[in-house]
Amino acid sequence: MARLRVGVLISGRGTNLQALIDAGADPAAPAEVALVISSQGDAPGLARARAAGIRSEVINHRAFNAKQGFEASMDAALRSARIDLVCLAGFMRILTPWFVERWRDRLINIHPSLLPAFKGLDTHARVLASGARFSGCTVHFVRAEMDDGPIIVQAVAPVIQGDTPETLAARVLELEHRCYPLAVQLIAEGRVWIRSERVEIANAMITNAIMINPVG
Ligand code: GAR
Repeated sequence: MARLRVGVLISGRGTNLQALIDAGADPAAPAEVALVISSQGDAPGLARARAAGIRSEVINHRAFNAKQGFEASMDAALRSARIDLVCLAGFMRILTPWFVERWRDRLINIHPSLLPAFKGLDTHARVLASGARFSGCTVHFVRAEMDDGPIIVQAVAPVIQGDTPETLAARVLELEHRCYPLAVQLIAEGRVWIRSERVEIANAMITNAIMINPVG
């Protein structure tokens, strides 16, 4: 069967991109990263694409007068590479409803909190300030509102006394690297569907069981 062709949008270091590349390196995997687009010419993630022999493009928003031109250029690149699924992986531009609708249900994002809690930036500092005992990460379909949309996979990480935003981020990031490839795999296997803006997954029990990270 043809593998799902994944396009990854990045702006920075690209560790989630690397997790997706590594998952696709297995010839038996149902999905492969076929295109990387960076909004930043100096994003370290671009070297990851190069090292894996994956096509990459820099599409810098500053080169366009309007957001529409920037997004139309990304849309054209994704279509010409015959991309089936777009993954936002540390992509730091907010997408307009035009782009989000054009890729509706074929556009997913990873966020380092248990959505719908702690949307937006400085997530880990805000989690620590709140006194929450648990945090985690979420992979979700993208809707027009930021960090919003049907949830596909989540994983839980404990907040440990003495945590800094950096130590919590590192614990959550390990989970991100497991959750993102899992969400892509589930979609590629045709096991994910959306009903009334909620995700249903065939054999979801297995999925949930492996994503709980015990304390200690
Ligand atoms: C990840 O922690 C991701 O969850 C976060 O940016 C980081 C990118 O790291 N995304 C967001 O905060 C989106 N709202 P990476 O470049 O190493 O994958």
